Amino acid sequence: MITKKIAVLPGDGVGPEVVAQAVKVIEAVSEKHNIKFELAYADIGASAIDKTGVPLPDATIKICREADAVLLGAIGDPKYDNNPEAKVRPEQGLLGLRKELDIYLNIRPVISYKSLHALSPLKEEIIKGVDMVIYRELTGGIYFGKKGTKEDGNVAYDTCRYSVKEIDRIARKAFEAARKRSNKVTLVDKANVLETSKLWRRVVSKIATEYPDVTLEYMYVDNASMQLVLTPSEFDVILTGNMFGDILSDEASVIAGSIGLLPSASYGDKNALFEPVHGSYPQAANQDKANPLATILSVAMMFEYFDMQDYANDIYGAVKRVINEGISTEDLKPRIFTSCSELGDIIYTLIADNLVDLNTAKMSTAKSVII
Ligand code: IPM
Ligand code: MN
Repeated sequence: MITKKIAVLPGDGVGPEVVAQAVKVIEAVSEKHNIKFELAYADIGASAIDKTGVPLPDATIKICREADAVLLGAIGDPKYDNNPEAKVRPEQGLLGLRKELDIYLNIRPVISYKSLHALSPLKEEIIKGVDMVIYRELTGGIYFGKKGTKEDGNVAYDTCRYSVKEIDRIARKAFEAARKRSNKVTLVDKANVLETSKLWRRVVSKIATEYPDVTLEYMYVDNASMQLVLTPSEFDVILTGNMFGDILSDEASVIAGSIGLLPSASYGDKNALFEPVHGSYPQAANQDKANPLATILSVAMMFEYFDMQDYANDIYGAVKRVINEGISTEDLKPRIFTSCSELGDIIYTLIADNLVDLNTAKMSTAKSVII
């Protein structure tokens, strides 16, 4: 029997709630297909600071290294946000883990679901048919360059640094991905100003010659942020650095209708991490109302990584089903409201029992649903 070991890091805010639903989905797949998944829980972020004093305990790194994949909820707590002097911050846990595992490639797909078009503030004719993926570099750039504050406290700096090697390895993955999609890569940079962007162009244009079937397009980040809301369906694979990718992926979530729908996968050569794009959403913590779909879809990406495409398809099918039937948490303004855990239960049942007939008539259109 196949066994996969998954490190589970619920983290902060709504993280534990959405991860609990994703774990239900793992259990559903496990039951249906008779595969075993071993789950090892570990602390990260603010909850780790509260317990151990550090955002990324050594034990967590060890568990993640030994796992076949890492599933992460979210990190971040407002009690640190209002204190720029804080020496330890929850975010260091996530950034440290990405660096430790050398997961340099962050993949963030953005799809517009037909039944959710009305949710987006963008016009339907603009977002229809959008199917893009952002390839964001994750362990370099301004996030990890030399940084500091001068002694008098009046000057601070962050350095953006990239090496040929760092650009080369992610660029190749982007071209490979484009080959399986619509054969287009858009390199987003600021090459009219930044040296690092010029290096990106040099490296990427060279690699492009090895992929003559893929069209390479260059776009400045300021223009890209505009094109994302003007002509998003023109994008196929967006290839970009760490900070630009961070910003553009939040912007692109507007196309999907809710950031609560966006999953992500991050790969290195040895490790992989799966997490929703959204943050810890502290205002909703412990209220069982966050949308678990981004985390559940991240599990689907994890199964694809395990080469278990059928199981991933089970999840995609179940998620499409609830979206199309208008069953969801409040952020999607659904026909039938569910809590976070109810939505997890519905997806579980859809997968485990091959629920063909959801019997929505039995579901209340009020705030709560039981199937
Ligand atoms: C993300 C988040 C992180 C990032 C934060 C929490 C450090 O915004 O994963 O997009 O900036 O990478
Ligand atoms: Mn972000």
